[in-house]
Amino acid sequence: MAGFRALLLLALTLNVSFAVLGRRTKGDVGVCYGLVGDNLPSPKDVVSLYKRHNIRKMRIFEPYPEVLEALRGSNIDLTLGVKNTDIPTLASSEDAANSWFISNVHPYVNDIRITYISVGNEVIPGEFSDSILPAMQNLQNVLRSNNLGTRTTTVVHSAVLGTSFPPSAATFSDSARPFISGIIQFLSSQKSPLLVNLYPYFPYAADPENIRLDYAQFRTTEPLIKDGALRYSNLLDAMLDGFFSAMEKEGVNDVNIIISETGWPHDGNGNITTPGLAATYNRNFIHHVNDFEGTPKRPAALLEGFIFAMFDEDLKDPGVEQHWGLFSPNMQPNYNIFG
Ligand SMILES: *[C@@H]1O[C@H](CO)[C@@H](O)[C@H](O)[C@H]1NC(C)=O
Repeated sequence: MAGFRALLLLALTLNVSFAVLGRRTKGDVGVCYGLVGDNLPSPKDVVSLYKRHNIRKMRIFEPYPEVLEALRGSNIDLTLGVKNTDIPTLASSEDAANSWFISNVHPYVNDIRITYISVGNEVIPGEFSDSILPAMQNLQNVLRSNNLGTRTTTVVHSAVLGTSFPPSAATFSDSARPFISGIIQFLSSQKSPLLVNLYPYFPYAADPENIRLDYAQFRTTEPLIKDGALRYSNLLDAMLDGFFSAMEKEGVNDVNIIISETGWPHDGNGNITTPGLAATYNRNFIHHVNDFEGTPKRPAALLEGFIFAMFDEDLKDPGVEQHWGLFSPNMQPNYNIFG
């Protein structure tokens, strides 16, 4: 009974966390729903779990029909990924993009609000990089001719930056620039955001001697990093501003960033991956998005983002990769994000 009450309390506090976001028109925190596991609950149960905890945004990595079916009428905003291997097809012609749309998206458009379709995840600077822009353009034309407000974008990761520190010195790497430059001009012309996967955990884990844990976890009260006139008290803002600076160097200063993934593993790498640290990071991330303060460089930016991920995924690589879930596959929380 005590266990049940504790669980109920946990469920209620989680609920409150996302419910606070429900009052906002923008800037909510969503959760990525990855399916690289052989023990995950049914998509129907997962959608119920999102609703039970008032998580109002979901990002999925490809158009899984079962998930899309389960989302019908759920009122959960969806960011939908195009599989990386489908990008060249979408790039080949508007007809091909239309076929992809007819099979994967069109059956659901009356029942699911699809905010963004992201063409590829962490593709640049690898294979298919040069197909992203034409794929985005073809798909955007298809969406427009179907009178949908859905916007196309792509998901990049920190590796597209060459220099990343200090934030004002950040630039896209020579291998990424030829692709990303045209993409961000296109995003600017469409008033669409760039999606960026940003994990303060990784630089911290790579260099815990020099990067302070409280800086990586939004726990410092004073700014630690000075960059010209700007002061940084958390690593995520520094990483975000690196991206804003890099875009400015390409002549683009009006593209917002949505944090398409962030989070902290709760196991897999000794004492820097514990449920307590994961809870602290994710809880503070939610507060940071909710405080409407933007970043030092873009104080007016409306931050928006997704926690990675809903579940632990047992078919990922061993180590931290299997331990990012807010929930275990049995749908119990791995930790209390308000603890
Ligand atoms: C992990 O353990 C090492 C060695 O005892 C210690 O120096 C470090 O501060 C610990 N880190 C955390 C986050 O507890």
